[in-house]
Amino acid sequence: MHLITARTQLSPNVTRLDVVAPRIAEIRQSGQFVIVRRAAGAERIPLTIADADRAKGTIALVIQAVGKSTRELVALQPGASIQDISGPLGRPTELISAGRALCIGGGVGTAVVHPIAQGLHGNGVGVVSVIGGRSREWVIFEEELRRLGEVRVCTDDGSYGRKGFVTDVARDVLAEGGIDVVYAVGPVPMMRAVVNLTRPLNVRTVVSLNPVMVDGTGMCGGCRVNVGGETRFACVDGPEFDGLLVDFDLLSDRLGTYRSHEQLALSRHDEACRIGLKS
Ligand code: NAD
Ligand code: FES
Repeated sequence: MHLITARTQLSPNVTRLDVVAPRIAEIRQSGQFVIVRRAAGAERIPLTIADADRAKGTIALVIQAVGKSTRELVALQPGASIQDISGPLGRPTELISAGRALCIGGGVGTAVVHPIAQGLHGNGVGVVSVIGGRSREWVIFEEELRRLGEVRVCTDDGSYGRKGFVTDVARDVLAEGGIDVVYAVGPVPMMRAVVNLTRPLNVRTVVSLNPVMVDGTGMCGGCRVNVGGETRFACVDGPEFDGLLVDFDLLSDRLGTYRSHEQLALSRHDEACRIGLKS
């Protein structure tokens, strides 16, 4: 059992849980994730290790409450426990060790960018982060990223920072020159748009993919993606890949495969809450 020591609401539907997991906190590396099972029989949810505190033996999980299982997870309060946390899983980020990196975080993807920026900063790399959200209250991890380098913020509606998408700001940073590598994490259309920016400039671009995962060990095939014409499993070969080679059409299609099942589960969950069978 993993005790929840803190719960922070980061944006209207994004919650941070700090959870006791000392072994994972000790050995995790940038880009790695865990698979969480709230209780026996609950769904297995892959979550990036957004941060870790070795001294306290805790890891930070950032959860966007979009379905039944994620809503149940974020309903947990400090003092409650999560039954299983498996990890760290996945290949660590291939971090450069000198130069300047552009880290782009769209919405909740900013929490995934944070450990990458931490690793780069630790290597002495100059970090410029471009982060964005729909409006001010959807911008997350700004303060944490400011500790690691320069941060430029934008919002879709202009309520905070520059008005526009992260790609609008990233275009300017790239035009200024001196960027050796781009790391981009967020919704699929965002990562595709970043790659459309960097491809003509021939700048190495790493994206983190979030296909459906089940076992997280390369056995079920659920997280299949196509990179450079080859089938890869995001859980063991990724989750980070060369963005210039990713088949984003296939990724979008596969992410939609279980949408009707997810909606049905969510409406049943909401109905159970409404009639008082669940809180
Ligand atoms: P969102 O739709 O609110 O978008 C966040 C930001 O991304 C926007 O403010 C904008 O700056 C940028 N963006 C969005 N669409 C864009 C486009 N077409 N072109 C350029 N920039 C664009 O995102 P959200 O609700 O925070 O995130 C939800 C999505 O993120 C889900 O689809 C989820 O699956 C995905 N996600 C991905 C990862 C990952 O590892 N890749 C991790 C968590 C969530
Ligand atoms: Fe099963 Fe990757 S989650 S193969």
